[in-house]
Amino acid sequence: VTMTSSTPTMPAPATANTIEVLSDRVAVGWSDGSSDGFHHIWLRDNCGCAECRHVFVGERLSDPASIALDIAPSSVVGGDSVQIVWPGGHRSTFSSNWLRMHAYGPSASARRTSVFHYWTAAEVQTPPQMHFDDVMASDESLLEWLRLLRRFGFTIVKGVPTEPGTVTQLAQRIGNLRNSNFGLIWEVESMPKPESLAYTSVKLTAHTDLVSRESQPGLQFLHCLVNEASGGESILVDGFSVAEELKRQGPEHHATLSRVNASFRYQNDFTDVQASFPVVRLDHNNEYYEVRYSNALLAPLQCDPHDVGPFYAVYHYFSQILRDPKWEYSFRLEAGDCEVFDNRRVLHGRQEFDPQTGARHLQGCYVDTDDFLSRLRVLERTQDFRIR
Ligand code: OGA
Ligand code: ZN
Ligand code: ZN
Repeated sequence: VTMTSSTPTMPAPATANTIEVLSDRVAVGWSDGSSDGFHHIWLRDNCGCAECRHVFVGERLSDPASIALDIAPSSVVGGDSVQIVWPGGHRSTFSSNWLRMHAYGPSASARRTSVFHYWTAAEVQTPPQMHFDDVMASDESLLEWLRLLRRFGFTIVKGVPTEPGTVTQLAQRIGNLRNSNFGLIWEVESMPKPESLAYTSVKLTAHTDLVSRESQPGLQFLHCLVNEASGGESILVDGFSVAEELKRQGPEHHATLSRVNASFRYQNDFTDVQASFPVVRLDHNNEYYEVRYSNALLAPLQCDPHDVGPFYAVYHYFSQILRDPKWEYSFRLEAGDCEVFDNRRVLHGRQEFDPQTGARHLQGCYVDTDDFLSRLRVLERTQDFRIR
């Protein structure tokens, strides 16, 4: 992500059992049976010795053009680390863990995507859940929470004090708040002069937030302070699961949805933000990058005329699958619950509620994906980051 393919987190450790020096790369066979190839030029360029990287800050000092494009090692030895001697005597040592974490072939991307679990509603009837006191008090619980968030794309945090503003403490346990025209923290309640459909009592069909921004916020927090109104049940849908379902049912539809730009727009007296991106974005490895979907903020389509028909066909189809109970997890947020989700993967919504029957008040905020993954990587570090 989003946050998908370009974000190594710690794989299971393994030893470099076999080393084979090929014409352009070194093939490493790992103790778990998988293998990865590392090009000679890539290995030399990523040398971590004190000459090539500053020993304190870890940033690169080397001059890329000084390395011959056809460089090849004089000798390579495997084990817990891979040790290379280059012509002229320069030496590089890579820990096997470091190599596994930075591998770039097909087996590496399979290892990376295995951290995601794309779910159906039935699979999350008992949702991934944490307690506020635990995640605030201990780094072990924080890490457990972040891993659940990454795996399922959402969690429910229980026992969040209903003191207004507490949601920002929870979010800042992970990283900086992401600002927008709605402010660092925003109130979700039925208002007389709403600036968004969210601030009324109408049903919100499953959507992602801030679709009209170039970058959609990563983590979204919705903390329930009061929920005494009838109706207003919450909805979460795994957008990547739904995209996979679409791919199974109609691969040509899937291709259209990930190719044609939809346009989105949000306007108020002071703001007019617009963005055009596909509803399902793939990365360069064809892995899911993000979902961007809010029917409320869809703007007039500005695509190639040939794509108008196919776009609407798949847009209708996708909208239909989204509300299929097979994919839509429906539950009620109680006071003290905070739903936290990857806004670029998991869509959220709510049923209509009746403000005459009681108050409903949530507070929300965002943290960008960068900050979320940074926190996760730092907590997963097993050694000083300057040492390989
Ligand atoms: C929002 C939103 C859902 C809810 O504020 O972005 O989608 O449960 N709210 O009110
Ligand atoms: Zn070096
Ligand atoms: Zn929303």
